[in-house]
Amino acid sequence: MTDKQRIFSGIQPSGLATLGNYLGAIRNWVALQDGHDCIYCVVDLHAITEWQDPAELQRQTREMTATLLACGIDPGKHILFLQSSVRAHAQLAWIFNCVARLGWLNRMTQFKDKAGKDREGASAGLYVYPNLMAADILAYHATRVPVGEDQRQHLELANDIAQKFNHDYGVDFFPTIEALITGPVPRVMSLRDGTKKMSKSDPSDQSRINLNDDADTIALKIRRAKTDPEALPSEPMGLANRPEARNLVGIYAAMDATDAAAVLRQHGGKGFGPFKEALAALLVAKLTPIARETDRLLADPAGVDAVLREGAERAAAIANPIVAEAERLVGFLRV
Ligand code: AMP
Ligand code: TRP
Repeated sequence: MTDKQRIFSGIQPSGLATLGNYLGAIRNWVALQDGHDCIYCVVDLHAITEWQDPAELQRQTREMTATLLACGIDPGKHILFLQSSVRAHAQLAWIFNCVARLGWLNRMTQFKDKAGKDREGASAGLYVYPNLMAADILAYHATRVPVGEDQRQHLELANDIAQKFNHDYGVDFFPTIEALITGPVPRVMSLRDGTKKMSKSDPSDQSRINLNDDADTIALKIRRAKTDPEALPSEPMGLANRPEARNLVGIYAAMDATDAAAVLRQHGGKGFGPFKEALAALLVAKLTPIARETDRLLADPAGVDAVLREGAERAAAIANPIVAEAERLVGFLRV
């Protein structure tokens, strides 16, 4: 298969994988394995842009890897590895720090969201996070990147960086990246606030479904999920201006491989009580087998580590020559 079709994506081990990660990204990663060369990366360099407890980071890195395997990522046919194990990412990111303009980074909405009011107190790493993300992808000359809607702006920046590098050095070296934002719910929202995205770093565990939540926890979180006092509408149009209702219906449709119209034909006109029960049952049926398989894999940590080790070797074999060439192009003397 040619470079043209190479897929790359990443996920941070800064917490447990959420339903947002699953529907926005992981499920598409699994599907894309059919017919593409895929490289999937647990991005621990990105995770430390916000402080992580070192022991927790190690634990969560293994757990995220096991979760990806449990969801169906196949390390026999594709590459699954840990970002910090392949030095080429940090090396190319430095070059991109020198290509990207401050004005570009100043427009990044994720930095503004994550830094919040205390911008002066945010790490420099958080600021240049998108440059590292561009390096992740371009170190492999990957061209297709499956992500959730929240990453669209970062991928546009990656293309700006690739183009400026090519222009500044008079080459046609880095390809154009295409964002694959194809999830049925490209943005899964918080269970506590339908206007905020579901996130593994939200302080409230009630705001999200984790892929390792047990059946009782899932049922409780869905029962407590914020809703409005109206009954469910019988058509999707009736979900306008009802972010919480829209989110729950979207999750149901995605998990049942159908659409909002079909869900509302079945559940519309009724209160949220019975709908939430059906949604909880659906989530339990689909997610608890993943949690069980994750636990089974985690019982053999050396096995999980071996997957990452082998993945890193194969990833480095692709990235090292590409990054070496980028270094030659900018004029680093090789002696
Ligand atoms: P992160 O958790 O930030 O490492 O994100 C990993 C992947 O999951 C990225 O492709 C994100 O776009 C996607 N993702 C994270 N949260 C959500 C969400 N609430 N809805 C949809 N996609 C998401
Ligand atoms: N920034 C992405 C996120 O938080 C994770 C990520 C890092 C990524 N490097 C990547 C996604 C490269 C796609 C491609 O969701």
